Amino acid sequence: MSLKRQKSFFEIYAHEYDYLTNASERKVSHKKEIDTIINIFKPESVLDAGCATGLTTSLFANAGVVAKGIDKSRPMIKMSKENYGNLENISFQSAIFETLPIAFNSKFDLIVCLANSISGVGSLHNLSRAFKGFYNSLKPGGTLVLQMLNYISIVDGELLPIRATQHENIIYQRFSERKGKRLYIYVNRLDTESDPLHFEMFRHEFENFTPVEVVSTLKKTNFKKIKKYSDLFLEKSFIKTSRDLVITAMKS
Ligand SMILES: C[S@@+](CC[C@H](N)C(=O)[O-])C[C@H]1O[C@@H](n2cnc3c(N)ncnc32)[C@H](O)[C@@H]1O
Repeated sequence: MSLKRQKSFFEIYAHEYDYLTNASERKVSHKKEIDTIINIFKPESVLDAGCATGLTTSLFANAGVVAKGIDKSRPMIKMSKENYGNLENISFQSAIFETLPIAFNSKFDLIVCLANSISGVGSLHNLSRAFKGFYNSLKPGGTLVLQMLNYISIVDGELLPIRATQHENIIYQRFSERKGKRLYIYVNRLDTESDPLHFEMFRHEFENFTPVEVVSTLKKTNFKKIKKYSDLFLEKSFIKTSRDLVITAMKS
């Protein structure tokens, strides 16, 4: 067994991300969420910030929205292109939230940053830089939809299973552990056909932000009409015990 601290699972096994997250199953439920967001905001263009292997970006593109997916991970962008590069209205590009290209200025009706991708910025200073980039990249009247983990709802110090999946001979297990504001995501990868048994454990460390920190940073960035929900259907109000925090915020 080896605990890999240097490279993340996502860098080494980007080509297995869809198996780890059970993308083919998730696609069905996620499509309903994206269709709802499209119905509410009626975007003609969208930036999917933290697109990973491109599932969310593809759901927008398939619905006729001009969609761009960005991710800091080049292997993820490569997978996105392989998965969905043949769709119309779609493009992928390696980019970092904190330093978005000037070419993005006032380009998008909608920006989505889902599945706690924003925690990848690592600090409040970088959160502010990322929000400024999102703000500049939106057209006036455009909306940011942010989905993040409400880490306070996770008991401190407790290991929490996220999901176990299997693809052919590979079994994946994911679980999380919160230590104060730090969240650790563990990914175990077991090759059941290897002899001797090949088992790898990856630990990913994230800095989380409180709802108050996120909202105040959005306000400082000049975002308006900031609303909090606990689901991507934007139906359920956010409460302290909600697992997810979903925020919508508008560029006026
Ligand atoms: C948990 S995945 C979410 C993927 C996708 N949005 C989904 O819903 O399945 C988070 C992604 O965000 C990317 N990411 C994290 N921090 C980033 C940053 N500062 N700039 C660009 N991409 C980032 C990671 O490389 C990773 O692919």
